[in-house]
Amino acid sequence: MRVKTKKGYIDTPALIVDLDKFESNLKKMADYFKGIDADIRPHIKTHKCPVMAIKQVNAGAIGVTCAKVGEAEVMAKAGIGDILIANQVVGATKIMRLLDLLHLSDVKVAVENDGNVEELNEGAKSRNKILKVLIEVDVGMNRCGVRDFEEAVELAKKIDKLKNLELVGIMGYEGHIIFTFEREERKKLGTQCMENLVDFKKHLEKEGFSIPIVSGGGTGTYDIASKVEGVTEIQAGSYLTMDVTYGYLNLGFEQALTLLTSIISIHDDHVILDCGMKAVSGEVGQPQGVGLEGASISSLSEEHGHMVYPEASKLMIGQKVELVPSHGCTTVNLHDNFYVVKDDTLEGVWEISARGKFL
Ligand SMILES: Cc1ncc(COP(=O)(O)O)c(C=O)c1O
Repeated sequence: MRVKTKKGYIDTPALIVDLDKFESNLKKMADYFKGIDADIRPHIKTHKCPVMAIKQVNAGAIGVTCAKVGEAEVMAKAGIGDILIANQVVGATKIMRLLDLLHLSDVKVAVENDGNVEELNEGAKSRNKILKVLIEVDVGMNRCGVRDFEEAVELAKKIDKLKNLELVGIMGYEGHIIFTFEREERKKLGTQCMENLVDFKKHLEKEGFSIPIVSGGGTGTYDIASKVEGVTEIQAGSYLTMDVTYGYLNLGFEQALTLLTSIISIHDDHVILDCGMKAVSGEVGQPQGVGLEGASISSLSEEHGHMVYPEASKLMIGQKVELVPSHGCTTVNLHDNFYVVKDDTLEGVWEISARGKFL
């Protein structure tokens, strides 16, 4: 008789993906993009997992977005044929690694300053390659990106003169408004950000540049940014597995990601779990317990999670407790594998191959 591995036998702490919820999120996003002009180019910084990226592409994504060359290396080697690095790639070491990927995948990169486009061009020239670039626009987040039309046009002119670069679009991420709780307010602010981005496209086109790609948006704004005329692709990523923080926005996606932990100590109402900040991130708040009404995680030390639960006397040492991470992306980055579970049975182990790839 075949013995199935049950969730309860998975050693802890372990990241669990509920397959039904995961597939529901995958389908909901894919279905949304079937009905509109814009495409989805999911950001893989959330899951860092080739199996999930391939499922997203097979469900209709035009490619993926990455933050780092190391992530792009993992995705290109896994067969993802179209990659946007939505970030600056600075310095010869990284630039050479980026160029090495062009024989595997159509890799494009964001740019925002003169010196960087020059070094990218030098690298591409030395490898006899043409590198596609998108000008990053700061749409209010105050991170990377050109600040005004003049800067954008100057940079576009510079790129035009450089023989080994090809300007293929612009990108801008409205991360500063993505967690605006009120839907109407988020819609207003998100629309303004993307209209601003499209204004950069129009301005550059008036100056004679071709801007086929306009890329932006995240999980909190995918259905706002994608409705702004001129936006061609959306970079949402967290929707696939979700977390506590995105849960507050009531977007209709399911919490597919949990951390399975074990109780290792109980004293009065103070329960210690075998997961600290090396297993679950707490930078935007504590994780939340599943199914234990009145329980709360009060703090995380390196290897211990402190849970306060008035009914702790009903619990046992070794008992499993599931937590939803407050931030999925930084939690996933701490783990080697997703344990994929359907109806309490382990269906597979998917490697988080791009974890720690911050170079
Ligand atoms: C450049 C960029 N695009 C898109 C996103 C959207 O990600 P999420 O789906 O988590 O909102 C992020 C998130 O940090 C980002 O940095």
